[in-house]
Amino acid sequence: MRYVAIEDARPGMYLAYDLYDSQGRTVIGGGCELTANYIQRLREYGFAAVYIDDDISEDIKIETVIPPELRQAGEQYVKACDIDKIADVARQIVASILPEGRVSLDMADLRSYDDYTYAHSVNVAVLSCVLGIGLEMSERDIEYLTTAALLHDLGKLTIPKEVLNKPGRLTQEEYALMKTHPVRSYELLKDNYDISAHVKQAVLLHHENYDGSGYPHGLYGDEQSIFVRVLHVCDVYDALTSKRPYKDGYCPSEAAEYLMGACGIMFDKYVVEKFLQLVPLYPKGTEVKLSNGKRAIVVDNTGGHNLRPIVRTLDVGQDIDLSDRLNFNITILPNDTDASEEFSEKSEAERKEMIKEVEAVRHKVMVVDDMATNLHVLKDILSNKYDVTLLKSGQQAVTYVAQNTERPDIILMDIDMPEMDGLEASRQINLITDNSIPILFVSAKTDRQTVMDCREIGAAGYIARPYKAVYIKSEIERILTQREVV
Ligand SMILES: [Fe+2]
Repeated sequence: MRYVAIEDARPGMYLAYDLYDSQGRTVIGGGCELTANYIQRLREYGFAAVYIDDDISEDIKIETVIPPELRQAGEQYVKACDIDKIADVARQIVASILPEGRVSLDMADLRSYDDYTYAHSVNVAVLSCVLGIGLEMSERDIEYLTTAALLHDLGKLTIPKEVLNKPGRLTQEEYALMKTHPVRSYELLKDNYDISAHVKQAVLLHHENYDGSGYPHGLYGDEQSIFVRVLHVCDVYDALTSKRPYKDGYCPSEAAEYLMGACGIMFDKYVVEKFLQLVPLYPKGTEVKLSNGKRAIVVDNTGGHNLRPIVRTLDVGQDIDLSDRLNFNITILPNDTDASEEFSEKSEAERKEMIKEVEAVRHKVMVVDDMATNLHVLKDILSNKYDVTLLKSGQQAVTYVAQNTERPDIILMDIDMPEMDGLEASRQINLITDNSIPILFVSAKTDRQTVMDCREIGAAGYIARPYKAVYIKSEIERILTQREVV
C-alpha cells in the first residue's frame, strides 16, 4: 500500500483502509474502488490523503499504531471533554503500545480540518507514549505523559471556532486569547482529584520553551519536568505535519529540520534527538524524488538509517537501499517549496483564497549582519517570498529606519557586530519606531544572558546559528501572522 495525496487520487485506485468521519462512521471501506464521486466526497470531508493498494506497493505493509476504535474513542471523549474517559483511553493507548516495544510510526493519520483538535490530541498522545518508551520512562510515567498529551489542548474547545480556525493573520487580541488555552485546559482539570498533579502541570506548561521564552510562566528548560519537554516536542511535530485552514502540512523530514533548528530555543536537544530516532523521516509508502531524477516510493526504513530508507523506483520498480554504500551518491531531494504542481487547480484556488490576507502583501524583511556571507545566505532563503534589504552594521540599520518612511515589517538582527552591536541598534530602532517593528535576533551567541537581553528589548524571537532554513522561514511567518504552529 502507499500514501497518495487527495490531489493525486484517481478513479480506479483501490483504497487500502477504511476511512472514518469525525463521528467514527465509515465514509468509505477498505478495498473499495475509488470513483470521481468518492474522491470528491473525500475532498469535501477534508481528507488530505488516502492509502491505496496497487501492484507496485503490494508488499509494503503499513500498520496502524493503535486500533482505529481506540483512536476514535479518544477523539470522541476529547470532543465531549470527558476527562475520566480520556484518562481511561490514555491507559489503553499505553497498554496497546508498551508490550510492542518499538513500534513503527509510518502510518500517517488521515483526518479532516474540522477534527483537528481531537485528532491532534490523540496523535500527540501516541507520539508521547512512543517517545516515553524510547526514553525508558517507567510505566506510571508513560501513563502520566500520555494522559497529559490527550488533555493538553482541551482549553481550545472553549475558544470560539472563528478564532481557532481563522485563516490569515490573528489580531493582537485574538492571539492573546489563543495563548490562554493552556491555562484554560488546566482550569478544566484542576479540581479533578483522579488526575495526577504531574499531568496537570504538564498540561499547564506545554507551551513553555527551553530558553524561557514560552508561556504562561516563561520557565527555563531546567525548571520544566521531562513531561513538559516531551509533550512540547510531540505537540509541535504533529502541528507542523498537519494541514490546517491557514497552512499546508510539512512532510516529516521538513518538520525534523524545524525541530533541529529550534533545539535549545524551544526544545530540549536530548528529547529532540531521541524523537528523531523514533520517527521515520520518510515514512513507508510515501513518494519521494531522488537526485538521479527518478521518483520512488519508500519501501522500508532500515534500523538506524532514518535518512536513507529503501526505495522503489516508480518507472521500473527497482529497489534501491539508500543506506548501502554503493548508493551513497543518490539522495532524496527536498520537497519543492513551490508545491503548486502538487495541487489540483480547484484545491489550489481554495487554498489561495484562505491565505489571501497573508499573501496579498509582500512583506519587507531587513537583514542586519556584518558578515557578507550571512547576509547572502539569508537573502537566498528569503527573497522568493519577501522583499529583502541587506545592511552591514547596526548603525546603518538605525540610520535606515530613521530616514525611511517605508519601514521593514520585520528585522533580522545579528548580535555580535563591531562598533554598534545588535542589542544597542535594536534599542535605538525601538525608540525611533515606538517598538512597532518586530525584531528577530539571529546569532551564534546562545548563553542565557544574551537570550535574556534579547527578551528585555522585546525581541519577537531568537534564532541560534547554525539555523535551518525551514525554521527561520517558519519563525518569520509566525511573527508576521501572529500565529504559532500549534
Ligand atoms: Fe497547545
